[in-house]
Amino acid sequence: MEVKITKFDDEGQGIARINNKVCFVKRALPGETLDVAIRVEKKDYLKAQIKKIITPSKERKEPVCPYYNECGGCNFLHTTFKEEHNFKINKARDYFKRCDGMFATLEYGYRDKVTLHVKNSKLGYYQEGSRELVSINYCYLLNPQINAIIKILNTYKDNDFNGSIIIRENKKGEVLLIINGKYQHIDKLKEENIITNIIVNDEVIKGKDYFQEEILDYKFKVHYNSFFQVNRDGLIKIIELLENYLKDKKVKKALDLYSGTSVLGIILSKYVDEVISIEENVNATMDAKTNLEINKITNLQVINGLVEDNIENFQDVDLILVDPARRGLDKKTIFYLNKIKAKYIIYISCEMISLKRDLNSLREEYELEKLYLVDMFPKTNKVETVMFLKSKS
Ligand SMILES: C[S@@+](CC[C@H](N)C(=O)[O-])C[C@H]1O[C@@H](n2cnc3c(N)ncnc32)[C@H](O)[C@@H]1O
Repeated sequence: MEVKITKFDDEGQGIARINNKVCFVKRALPGETLDVAIRVEKKDYLKAQIKKIITPSKERKEPVCPYYNECGGCNFLHTTFKEEHNFKINKARDYFKRCDGMFATLEYGYRDKVTLHVKNSKLGYYQEGSRELVSINYCYLLNPQINAIIKILNTYKDNDFNGSIIIRENKKGEVLLIINGKYQHIDKLKEENIITNIIVNDEVIKGKDYFQEEILDYKFKVHYNSFFQVNRDGLIKIIELLENYLKDKKVKKALDLYSGTSVLGIILSKYVDEVISIEENVNATMDAKTNLEINKITNLQVINGLVEDNIENFQDVDLILVDPARRGLDKKTIFYLNKIKAKYIIYISCEMISLKRDLNSLREEYELEKLYLVDMFPKTNKVETVMFLKSKS
């Protein structure tokens, strides 16, 4: 069946119309004419697969990765970086009616962390929407050091191992390998000089349970269990946006909520009199306390606990930075953000759906001042949004 793709949907798939029904076509691009086969037929929509490209978009590209057809990791290997950015910018404009800038990072090789699954002697990623594994020996999104570790892991196959392996790499090239499950080749991995730290089922087998990360002039202790952004260049862009915003603001007291190892709290501390970070993960909180000492910060206090259990204790706050997980803010936190009426809110998010929902709940007290995108996750349909809000009162 011949269709014309008119635009992208929210996930980066192409949209066509067939008999007045929306039809989602995977890996199709706006402007293309395609021969498609209907794979799913529902009351309100259809899903189709490309059989033949009749007229390709001028933004279509040959995917660099041999696993692209099966693997669920990437969404935009079949198009240019420019078209991928257009999709992300247009999505932000659609959701928030503005986008004041998009900051790109490396197109490939940007990720400093990966979670690989292992089952039935396959090591790799899940297929899209399935628990079937795609074996990989190389991933274009990962930095070269992590790809070198994947090659090593593939030489030491353990057919009985069912579990996961997380690889993290810092700026110095030190590698943390976190193995969950029963894996029989630990001794061989210990001999590999390139792997500096190995943690198996929460026990340190080689090196330490953390490494030190370096961002600009700052140093951060990061426990293997603590969150840290997976794209160092992207994190630097976020820091630049924050510094640029804060440089002419007069802020006494600031909250850094969902603070991880207090990377962003430490940046805030340079521009404000007092900062309080709140983070639920015990290891990340302990890292944060060490990070204050390493970076000689004396005006930041770190609280371990849930944001929703602590937020009611704060009033007279000028600025609140929130950087929650993908699900966004809970109702109690939203209630107190509205009650505190801070002069400024900075909301950092990797999920536009929850961000839009939360923005709508904050609109009575706050208005959107600026919105930037930082492309932390090139080749996927995810992007980091950095939103600056100011109080209406
Ligand atoms: C997206 S990360 C951001 C971390 C930090 N701002 C950074 O840039 O490194 C979200 C953090 O929120 C923490 N977290 C999730 N839910 C939480 C909650 N309800 N209260 C406190 N911390 C929470 C997670 O442990 C994680 O460290």
